Amino acid sequence: MYSLSENKLPKQQTPYYLYDSSLLKATLAQITDYTATSPFKVHYAIKACANPAILDIIAKAGFGADCVSGGEIKAAVKAGFNPESIVYAGVGKSDEEIRYALSCGIGCFNVESVEELEIIQEIAAAESKIATVALRVNPDIDAHTHHYITTGLKENKFGIDLRMLDNAVAKATNMANIKLCGLHFHIGSQITTMEPFVLLCKKINQLLAKFQSEGINITQVNVGGGLGIDYEHPDENPFAPFKPYFDTFRQNLDSGKISLVHFELGRSVVAQCGTLISRVLYVKQGVNKKFVIIDAGMNDLLRPALYGAHHNIENISNTDSTAVERYDVVGPICESSDIFATDELLPITQRGDLIAIRSAGAYGETMASTYNMRTLTPYVIV
Ligand code: LLP
Repeated sequence: MYSLSENKLPKQQTPYYLYDSSLLKATLAQITDYTATSPFKVHYAIKACANPAILDIIAKAGFGADCVSGGEIKAAVKAGFNPESIVYAGVGKSDEEIRYALSCGIGCFNVESVEELEIIQEIAAAESKIATVALRVNPDIDAHTHHYITTGLKENKFGIDLRMLDNAVAKATNMANIKLCGLHFHIGSQITTMEPFVLLCKKINQLLAKFQSEGINITQVNVGGGLGIDYEHPDENPFAPFKPYFDTFRQNLDSGKISLVHFELGRSVVAQCGTLISRVLYVKQGVNKKFVIIDAGMNDLLRPALYGAHHNIENISNTDSTAVERYDVVGPICESSDIFATDELLPITQRGDLIAIRSAGAYGETMASTYNMRTLTPYVIV
């Protein structure tokens, strides 16, 4: 892994994202290893990090791409992902996006409603094309994760409710320009135990058995993404628990009924290979606490402000942990939620020190904005 020591860091104006290409390649190699012996196909969820240098490495490693917009499909095609290995989800696909996806010849639309299915049929008919679709099922499984990133509960906007699925399958199988290839699921993100995935497998087995008994032969499933990472110990656990994760599906999905399993992993592929590097502008003495004010803000990394997420924070300039102090690490943005950590224990920190915010490779750069008229966060890949 790339060492985060001050004299090895690129001379780049802070704040910036630093990506470790060797860790990314090692992660991709693990995933490839653990999926090689099964009919498993992994699509990288581009929303996690769409940085062109990162996409280039992932495309070259032979992964497919999971996209949620026309923009992401464009980025995937540009990066060299095979269009047939692109899957396209999203509750609000526009007509233009559907047309564009059809023109690229993407592998599969993950369709989120009967209403959307009808529009895809209409557009595909007008273009004399066949759209391959998987129906996204809302399996009503609690992934026990942050309520903003849980997606598979019946109150979430995603997917087709189980009670409406028969109707959707019947419609899809009767549409002239639709080829139904399978069912799609995604129950949430940053899932750190295997239990929700076991429940998902059981639900999938039941559904496939039911459809097969009715003579509807669905044999492909897309189980989504969601595998969590260790935000607190990025050095001890740089890899997500890929082996137990893929073993869970190997052991619990009914292999007799399934010919191909698609995965859509985002966070677990890229989170640990990204670090947000920032510089301390001020150490400000408050009434009863000290603030470390850094030059990165919530516009550069939104996760702490939006989800209350905690990323490991390190002072790269002073690593002497024999003298430490508690600080609130905050950014320069005009919002009280622009806080990276509260009461964070750090070595004695001063103006000019470099700060590393770890595990920022996923949902970091892609969620950055220019709020407060700041420039979009640049990156360096090593
Ligand atoms: N497939 C679908 C349909 C999804 O909606 C997502 C993520 C994924 C795959 C990839 O999930 P992953 O393997 O990355 O967990 N911004 C939030 C996470 C939002 C996840 C949205 N959907 C965060 O920073 O935690």
